[in-house]
Amino acid sequence: MELQIVEGGLHQRDQLLRLYQAVAAIPGGLIRQPAEVTPAYIEEFTSESVSHGLMLVAMEGEELVGDIHAHTPPIYAFSHLLTDLTIMVHPEHQGKGIGRKLFNAFLARVEKDYPHILRVELYVRRHNTKNVQFYTSLGFETEGVHERKIFAGNGRFETPLQMVWINPGYRG
Ligand SMILES: CC(C)(COP(=O)(O)OP(=O)(O)OC[C@H]1O[C@@H](n2cnc3c(N)ncnc32)[C@H](O)[C@@H]1OP(=O)(O)O)[C@@H](O)C(=O)NCCC(=O)NCCS
Repeated sequence: MELQIVEGGLHQRDQLLRLYQAVAAIPGGLIRQPAEVTPAYIEEFTSESVSHGLMLVAMEGEELVGDIHAHTPPIYAFSHLLTDLTIMVHPEHQGKGIGRKLFNAFLARVEKDYPHILRVELYVRRHNTKNVQFYTSLGFETEGVHERKIFAGNGRFETPLQMVWINPGYRG
């Protein structure tokens, strides 16, 4: 079935909840615990992405199989940022190129329609080399290391990297 990438919104809250719960059910997929993937969480990031950010979803027919979103913090000093970028592809559809298509569409849209955005920011766990390489291949650069910022239980910690993509379409 042909993949379509379209803008996401609150009307997809139930499908988004199912997508995020499916990813959270797999250890290491999402920083949140499965019980922390609530309707309120979905509604919060969807609302902020739609009203001051960007959210795209991948649709296979009627099925929502992926999501990418980021938002601009609502204060003047950070109005040139799209931050906390999150991308999810349903576990049954991973490894088929959907994540790359979503990300390419997102960055192309920022370059074309978001001339006020200079930086697109995300966090990725350092040990997740597959994701780090994926983001690097898209033009993201590592600019920070947050040693043991993530508590993983049982006295274990994980270290996220902060990565940034600079918008070539930035016009100030
Ligand atoms: C990360 C994620 C969004 C990637 O989406 P995807 O649809 O599986 O990715 P794609 O099939 O488009 O592959 C993108 C790249 O990832 C890498 N990749 C994908 N599967 C891989 C695998 N099994 N082993 C190694 N690298 C792999 C490759 O670099 C690939 O690049 P290519 O286009 O040159 O082959 C998806 O795996 C996912 O949702 N993971 C769980 C949640 C997560 O980690 N989200 C990111 C944190 S917010």
